[in-house]
Amino acid sequence: MSNHPIGIYDSGIGGLTVANAIHQLLPNETLLYFGDTAHFPYGEKSPDSIKYYSIRIADFLIENHAKCIVIACNTASSIAYEAVKKHVKNKIPVISVIDPVVNAVAKNKDLKKVGVIATKATIKTDAYAKKIKAISDKEVASLATPLLAPMIEEGFFNNNISKTIIHSYLSKPKLKKIDALILACTHYPLIQKEIAAYYHQEVLILDSAEIAAQEVKNVLNKNNILASKSNKNKSHFYVSDYTKSFESSTKIFFKGKLHLEKHGLWDNE
Ligand code: DGL
Repeated sequence: MSNHPIGIYDSGIGGLTVANAIHQLLPNETLLYFGDTAHFPYGEKSPDSIKYYSIRIADFLIENHAKCIVIACNTASSIAYEAVKKHVKNKIPVISVIDPVVNAVAKNKDLKKVGVIATKATIKTDAYAKKIKAISDKEVASLATPLLAPMIEEGFFNNNISKTIIHSYLSKPKLKKIDALILACTHYPLIQKEIAAYYHQEVLILDSAEIAAQEVKNVLNKNNILASKSNKNKSHFYVSDYTKSFESSTKIFFKGKLHLEKHGLWDNE
């Protein structure tokens, strides 16, 4: 089992930020990535659709010998985590990108008020606020920032357009006086520096990709299934719809070479 791949899925290629963080932390691991580009963006889909897609993808990952499933998408984690866990039973561990961040926030005594920015679907579930409040007395301010993921996907970051959009969201009264901001979307690590600059480096910016990667390491370690040898070049990065523009955007999200392969998971639907 230890040399089986880590299964990772997302609504598209943004989850490659999580795959990248896992690869940086655990370079010996083989990755089996599925980006559901045919259904991107999940942030605008119904909960039933997101659960349906998630379960089918979890089955695909299991059929391909994944030793764990990382839900590298905040929207899917907030809506489908319980459904996937129930479906997988206890066959393999299922890791969401939300719980590790929630635990890190709850433990941090310096934080009184925490902001959360994410897609509309994630904010609608109120998953972060509910989970943080269940284990701490922190104040949580959640804001849907639906323009950010498509903006980044189109390559608009570190420029005047992204600066204007980021500023217009972060200046909302709701986010006043926060001590930390959770980047609750796979795409947002790409604008982490711009966000930190907006706050003059005075607000703690929490990147869920890095925190989730650490959780993956802990879970594999606990289950004694960390890879024992390097399996370089065995990783696969599948997408349900392939375009050249997805292929070239992978460079934004993943450091190092990767090649997208089309998988027709939905072809007979
Ligand atoms: N991957 C999604 C997330 O982390 C963002 C893009 C989408 O809406 O599918 O929430």
